[in-house]
Amino acid sequence: MAHAASSGTPKFSSRLAFVMAAVGSAVGLGNVWKFPYTAGENGGAAFVAVYLLGLLFVAAPIFIAEVLIGRRGAASPPQALGSQAVEHGRTNAWRIPGLFGLVGGLLVMSFYSVIAGWTLDYMLTAARGMFSTFDAAGAEAHFDGLKASLPRLLLWQGLFMLATLGIVAMGVRAGIERAVSIMTPALGILLLLLVVYALIIGDADRAIRYLFAPDFSKLNADMALAAVGQAFFTLSVGIGGVMMYGAYLPKDASIFRASGMVVAADTAVALLAGLAVFPIVFAHGLDPEGGPGLVFVSLPLAFSAMPGGDILGALFFFFLLIAALTSAIALYEPTTAWLSERGVSRIKGTLIAAGGSWLLGLLSVFSFNIWQDVDPLGFIPSLQGVNFFGLITNGIDKLVLPLGALVISGFVGRVLTRKAVLEELNMRDGPLFRIWLFSLRWITPGVVAILFLVNIF
Ligand code: PHE
Repeated sequence: MAHAASSGTPKFSSRLAFVMAAVGSAVGLGNVWKFPYTAGENGGAAFVAVYLLGLLFVAAPIFIAEVLIGRRGAASPPQALGSQAVEHGRTNAWRIPGLFGLVGGLLVMSFYSVIAGWTLDYMLTAARGMFSTFDAAGAEAHFDGLKASLPRLLLWQGLFMLATLGIVAMGVRAGIERAVSIMTPALGILLLLLVVYALIIGDADRAIRYLFAPDFSKLNADMALAAVGQAFFTLSVGIGGVMMYGAYLPKDASIFRASGMVVAADTAVALLAGLAVFPIVFAHGLDPEGGPGLVFVSLPLAFSAMPGGDILGALFFFFLLIAALTSAIALYEPTTAWLSERGVSRIKGTLIAAGGSWLLGLLSVFSFNIWQDVDPLGFIPSLQGVNFFGLITNGIDKLVLPLGALVISGFVGRVLTRKAVLEELNMRDGPLFRIWLFSLRWITPGVVAILFLVNIF
């Protein structure tokens, strides 16, 4: 980055820089940690099929719309929504969902930082040469030990938040751009290596069938909502992070093309992660429905059998940590930008965001030990036995992001004029544009509304 634009909004130095930052925000724990275990909990291939459809027809159109709102509004999400609503003769109350988005970002960070902390622990564990000593029982014991240790969880989570805070407070987008452009491809290459290895030493047949041969009798509304929610989560849409990056996208870059690259890279990383994890899961008799620990037990096992596995394992978890960091930045940036529009310094603004997410984060930390069995909404039958961590992660996927997506689709599909939208996208009113607008106006709200209704009744 970055030269200040005449309006005072900073800009990325190029479209490539935006793509790198947006890929950095999209590719993260959602792809490598969350996608495999969520697919596992929801029965595999049928989930993957709905996820891919959801990406293409629901989440990707929203991603494009969110970038558009951000670039046109050139401000923080509440400000970008409010000012464009007023410009179109609507109420300034459109800024309110933008404010909810800021809180949503902090809520995501609250649990995201815990898992990112695990990657830090695993990086050091591998670096000490411990992966090579793991068998299935040893890998599970290590993971259980980590979850049970409050001091370790708090330390790693705190360190991860400090790193994020430091980067956002400095506003060093040049540093981020550079880090992302090296680390994300490097993570991809290591993943590819892992996939090849896992397919050779693991149960490749079963893994491929599990992920890609859908048994549609497993399809149900709750699973479909989880799949669409995962599609939103993995593209980072629905809480204003993408809007914020859109605000920094240079005016002459094509939103459609840039977005296409982000979606392609993000999807590739998720599928690779699935192919790296499941052959190992089946070969070692691990439970595919093992939940949030799936990757943290299966991948060390893959590394343990691999020559040089400790070094490669340390590198892998280091890259994953960086991928998580470049996602986390997008979770603090909207709050920081909004506060700075209100005269709060960047440093103070970031401290406020970090403080809020740290406090919320305690709920997730405690969910792995002292509050493991506390189910605050247990009086609702379907939420019995779900602890704070489960409520927060599910609440984000199945409620917060879909609602955010509805706001974005309503805003671009129904508040902004067609002319304004076409101008910002810098494209003609052709078939591609029409398919996209149709998805935005009808498919997204339709799918989200149906899934909500079916899940309630
Ligand atoms: N997309 C990120 C990931 O997959 C998570 C994220 C969600 C980041 C929402 C920002 C906003 O890891």
